Amino acid sequence: MSDLFKNYIAGQWVESSTGQTFERRNPATGELVGTYTKSGPEDVDRAVAAAKKAFQSWRLYPAPKRGELLFKVAHILDQRKEEFAREMTQEMGKVIDEARGDVQEAIDMAYYMAGEGRRMFGQTTPSEMRNKFQMSIRKPHGVCGIITPWNFPMAIPSWKIFPAIVTGNTVVFKPASFTSRMGLRFVEVLEEAGIPAGVVNLVLGDGKNVGDPLVEHPDVPVIGFTGSTESGIDVSVRAARKNKRVSLEMGGKNAVIVMDDADLDLAVEGILWSAFGTSGQRCTAASRVIVHRSVQGELSERLAARARKMVLGDGLDPKVDVGPVVSKRQLESINEYVKIGASEGATLVTGGGIATTGLLEKGHFHEPTIFDNVTANMRIAQEEIFGPVVSLIPVDSLDEAIDVANGVQYGLSASIFTRNVNNAFRAMQDIFTGILYVNAGTTGAEIHLPFGGTKATGNGHREAGTAALDFFTEWQSLYIDYSGKLQRAQIDEVAL
Ligand code: UN1
Repeated sequence: MSDLFKNYIAGQWVESSTGQTFERRNPATGELVGTYTKSGPEDVDRAVAAAKKAFQSWRLYPAPKRGELLFKVAHILDQRKEEFAREMTQEMGKVIDEARGDVQEAIDMAYYMAGEGRRMFGQTTPSEMRNKFQMSIRKPHGVCGIITPWNFPMAIPSWKIFPAIVTGNTVVFKPASFTSRMGLRFVEVLEEAGIPAGVVNLVLGDGKNVGDPLVEHPDVPVIGFTGSTESGIDVSVRAARKNKRVSLEMGGKNAVIVMDDADLDLAVEGILWSAFGTSGQRCTAASRVIVHRSVQGELSERLAARARKMVLGDGLDPKVDVGPVVSKRQLESINEYVKIGASEGATLVTGGGIATTGLLEKGHFHEPTIFDNVTANMRIAQEEIFGPVVSLIPVDSLDEAIDVANGVQYGLSASIFTRNVNNAFRAMQDIFTGILYVNAGTTGAEIHLPFGGTKATGNGHREAGTAALDFFTEWQSLYIDYSGKLQRAQIDEVAL
């Protein structure tokens, strides 16, 4: 089969050991996107062996040189940006502008981490003793298992794989099966840039047959995972038995606060963009709007009027505002939440349905949906929906708004629209999320600050920025005594 997309192991494109394949169809049109080799535990074993072998030389290749290869990666990604963006839209549905942004985020990360090859700063400190020198340096761990989702099929792998390799680790990469082709394109770029064989290996397949064996593998000390909270906790439990280092990036229930002094024009733009961009399928998507009761009616009407005009369709069409959701199952799960919201007594202001008119029938489209008069404890105000559904929750004060914002199990992103600097600083002080915006929506994090969340969103690690280096390296503290005699710290007196 000439069109079969394969694994990349030890620098070779190879079919899996199972001989089986799986397919992906365009969620907007139903057309075939690709046929992929379906891997199993044996393929994971091979990939890990290749990564383990490559680690021995890669860790000793100077970090600035590793960084130079990432500059090449950035250039190639940039050259192929338009091609990749189009393929991404076909594979997972986001509109073309956003797909370009996804590739751009990977380019940004490649440049940033390339520069880290010349930094990777450690500390030097004075010693308590005479004639003694001390410093700390970063050391790579070895083989990292990288498991990524379908909603940011280039950006999220870049957040994990670039810091992993610039610090001297090697990688076995399992992209979400829905976005296998993007995972494969990502690895093609690394190959073209000259990243040596075995440094990054690609294994295509599902969570049970590839993800689980990778998480359990004794030669993989590090797992970087982005996905649902349920799967992430399962990864964490399995990995804990082997004392692995695990970074989890999981669910969100992000809130926008709109105060009575907000610029409502701006708030409307920010809410629509963060609630319905990527069809609501961002971890950072806004799914709650906590609105001061005095502007509730106006905001609700203005949002609904705009949402009704949003054009659903194939994201390759530049007129389209909202693309499909990723799969039929996801579509059904989103619509189930709409029914739950209605039965809980929320007011459905607009949308609510699966869109099936005309060409939309061929894909998985959900109408942009707004609920009003939602209360903070309703399921639609508590659970991650991961679709184009947003709930307006009226409140009477900033204190109440902050309580509601914090009153969910997740803690990824939040935002506040206000013209009052005191309100803005109160929100920054009292909202317990990993990311917070003032006078912007909940999405759009840049790659040089830490990305991640508190509470059930994460497990204490951060991606991007220098925080990523902390996860992908171990500190080694080095003490060099050049006094020529035994000096005992904490014991010997040092003469003046
Ligand atoms: C995600 O939602 O999984 O901040 C990632 C943002 C993007 C990344 C989102 N830069 O919305």
